[in-house]
Amino acid sequence: MTRKVKVSAPGKVILSGEHAVVYGYPEILSAIDRRLSVEIEETGSDLDIQPIESRPFVEYAVEVIKTKLNVSGLNNLKIRTNSQIPLGCGLGSSAAFSVAITAAFFGFLNLPRSLKKINEIAYEIEKKQHGTPSGGDNTISAYGGFLLYRKETESFKVFSSLKTKVFPQIFLINSGKPEESTGEMIKGVKDFVLKTPQEAEKIFKEMEQITRNFLRFLSGEELNFGDLITINERLLEQLGVVSSKTKLLIQKIESISGSAKISGAGGLKDNSGIVIVYHEDPKVIEKFAHEGNLDLFRVKLGERGFKNEKC
Ligand code: PMV
Repeated sequence: MTRKVKVSAPGKVILSGEHAVVYGYPEILSAIDRRLSVEIEETGSDLDIQPIESRPFVEYAVEVIKTKLNVSGLNNLKIRTNSQIPLGCGLGSSAAFSVAITAAFFGFLNLPRSLKKINEIAYEIEKKQHGTPSGGDNTISAYGGFLLYRKETESFKVFSSLKTKVFPQIFLINSGKPEESTGEMIKGVKDFVLKTPQEAEKIFKEMEQITRNFLRFLSGEELNFGDLITINERLLEQLGVVSSKTKLLIQKIESISGSAKISGAGGLKDNSGIVIVYHEDPKVIEKFAHEGNLDLFRVKLGERGFKNEKC
């Protein structure tokens, strides 16, 4: 019988602290119920990768995994990727891929599934995609749930799983794929930091405060979730990572008593990727999205990290 394994890993949203995390401030991430799966099967022929567009990234990931695990060969594999996570709009699709393929190799090679090791290797793969990522995306995809995450230095990252009492019901609206890559958005913020360091520090400190308030909210304190989302969005706008088009969309949501923020790197020129939307009455948002022909979907927060799937 040929060996075959299939592993899935979740996408993510960032509730608070994106960009600030690059400068050592904390962020809160949550895994969502949109997943990406990787299936590995032994075949008689050469490396067969589907879908074909994923080939360069899959080949790179396989090389990283082989080097890190100190294994050779493994050329006769069929690797299939299947995803429910839209690409390149801040939902962590590349991190979910990095985690799922690493965990699938651990399964395929019958290695004990060490979360820590899988996460470390996934981070190495993520670097190819993003240059200098904080590592938050792969960590939430590996561990799942909600995480408070902080990158102190390249080799020292601290995070803690949050025992949440509240699971806010949110929607996501896809404002469209940004023209800029995550790396370009990070570079834009870096320029802002270099040009106006005091202003940037003030924004990051306020973000940190909001992140702490999110923590208090998730642990059951009575705080207004919508207000936290709105303040967070304003700070991201001040950092220059939200486009005029997306700001307009968010203003419209606020005008019907909702709250919204971008999640992830954002985008300045045209689209800004995924927008988190919250309203006390979900029907209002559904009607708004329907009338505006917007790409709206509901997601569950706090979902499981990587897991085996039936082949
Ligand atoms: O949009 P994404 O999924 O690439 O998220 C990026 C979040 C940043 O804080 C901007 C960068 C990072 O590596 O944490």
